[in-house]
Amino acid sequence: MSAKTERTWKITYPDDCVKYIEAFRRDCWDHQGVCQLLHEFFSQQGNVDTVCELGSGAGTNLMHLCDYGYECFGYDSNQESIAISKSRAESNGKNIHFELLDFSKRLPNRQFDAVVSLFVPISLEDMEELTKRSLQIVKPGGYFASMLLAVLPEFENVPEQKVNSTEFLEVDGIQTIRFNYYRKHGHQIEYNGIYFAGEPQGPRMFQDRDRYDLITKDQMLKIPETNYRHVYRTRIEGKPDQCPPMTYEILDIFQKT
Ligand SMILES: C[S@@+](CC[C@H](N)C(=O)[O-])C[C@H]1O[C@@H](n2cnc3c(N)ncnc32)[C@H](O)[C@@H]1O
Repeated sequence: MSAKTERTWKITYPDDCVKYIEAFRRDCWDHQGVCQLLHEFFSQQGNVDTVCELGSGAGTNLMHLCDYGYECFGYDSNQESIAISKSRAESNGKNIHFELLDFSKRLPNRQFDAVVSLFVPISLEDMEELTKRSLQIVKPGGYFASMLLAVLPEFENVPEQKVNSTEFLEVDGIQTIRFNYYRKHGHQIEYNGIYFAGEPQGPRMFQDRDRYDLITKDQMLKIPETNYRHVYRTRIEGKPDQCPPMTYEILDIFQKT
């Protein structure tokens, strides 16, 4: 991730690293649980057939949503993520449309019953902007779902805090270690992940960086209520270390009016 300004930033990844980063995500995040929450909500509404994910990564969420019977469309700005998604969907016999697209520049050329943005660490300001712009690709009466990170109450007034951890994972037969460095300052966390992968041609090291804006318990995205109505909020329980330390995840759903 490279910083643009204090309030907005762009995510980029080193070449040929996404397979490792994605494998750690799948190990750590409860994609299935989040998709089940979405499915429970959508099936109660009864009018959702098409689902679009903006920032679809390796397509893990859409593979679960496809299993629930939705027609799925995934968009990501990273070429390697799209290639991995296509090959995973094909080898699992799932018919999902994946396309390279930077959602900060343009949006898909059609409308969907639901648009979701899950586990995408863009700034709060950018998520507000994306939510507003998503109106054009959500059908009337359709939904936009986003995830935000909230600060745990006991850390709300802690201005500075550092937490480190180490994880180990075998990725496609390659032993990989990841050192995680989290620094909370105010209502933001900076993350540095240092990866060591024991590749056959020699050990490889690379770094992944993210920045997370944190909200407080009752804070909402600032969206004009004329076009979107806030209809659902839940805390995501997920796996024990799913979200960055000092935080928890919130799933919000808006309905286009
Ligand atoms: C942390 S990953 C999450 C991927 C996926 N949603 C999941 O839950 O596994 C964030 C993804 O958002 C993508 N992304 C970030 N900014 C984007 C943009 N402007 N346009 C399209 N994709 C973007 C990144 O390339 C990355 O694959």
